Amino acid sequence: MNAEEYVQQLFVHEDETLAAVRRDIVERGMPPIFVPPHIGQLLSLLIKMNHSREALEIGALGGYSGIWLARGLPLDGHLTSLELNPEYANVAMNNLQRANLGDKVQYLTGPALESLKHLEQEQKRYDFFLIDADKENYPAYLTYAIALANPGAIIAADNALLHGRVTNHEDLSASALAMRKFNETMAHHPLLTAMLITMGDGLAVARVNSNS
Ligand SMILES: C[S@@+](CC[C@H](N)C(=O)[O-])C[C@H]1O[C@@H](n2cnc3c(N)ncnc32)[C@H](O)[C@@H]1O
Repeated sequence: MNAEEYVQQLFVHEDETLAAVRRDIVERGMPPIFVPPHIGQLLSLLIKMNHSREALEIGALGGYSGIWLARGLPLDGHLTSLELNPEYANVAMNNLQRANLGDKVQYLTGPALESLKHLEQEQKRYDFFLIDADKENYPAYLTYAIALANPGAIIAADNALLHGRVTNHEDLSASALAMRKFNETMAHHPLLTAMLITMGDGLAVARVNSNS
């Protein structure tokens, strides 16, 4: 048993509802690219530790990470989730409803950059962000997350290691270049205190410090 397997079997409490959502996504022929259970549990923990009330997710797929996020929120908490594909957003909504979390979540469909622009115009603010969509746009998603953050908000981003591709400097693909830029901004931005947790495919996490 390696360290990740040890952590999975000891610390991760994935119940039947969550396991059924993973099966549902696979059975529908959707890509099985949801966060692994130990990252889901970590996201829930971060939300609780930060007392986040308003969360924003970029990349819903079938609602698997959405359930972990929504479960970390307080009773009056709320999750806004951005998803390109309206069919995926429907599946996600159904899965959140099955988990009795339907009243806590709102899905906005279409390209996330457009939704983010509208949220910025509406002056929305969030306490927690999960970035988990198209990798080329991670730097732009980070810029929006900082702009939409309440002081003390947490920004988390999955796949920060791109399965080893960020550290392979011969990889000059658009996604690898974007993820390196994203990680460098997380590491050096004057408003952020950050770390890249090397669990799973890497979860980059930052706190947005107050600039006042
Ligand atoms: C890795 S999956 C999300 C997995 C989900 N967070 C989970 O762990 O259950 C990425 C999702 O981002 C969506 N996506 C891709 N490009 C997007 C874009 N430009 N705007 C919004 N969503 C996008 C995809 O349709 C896909 O559902």
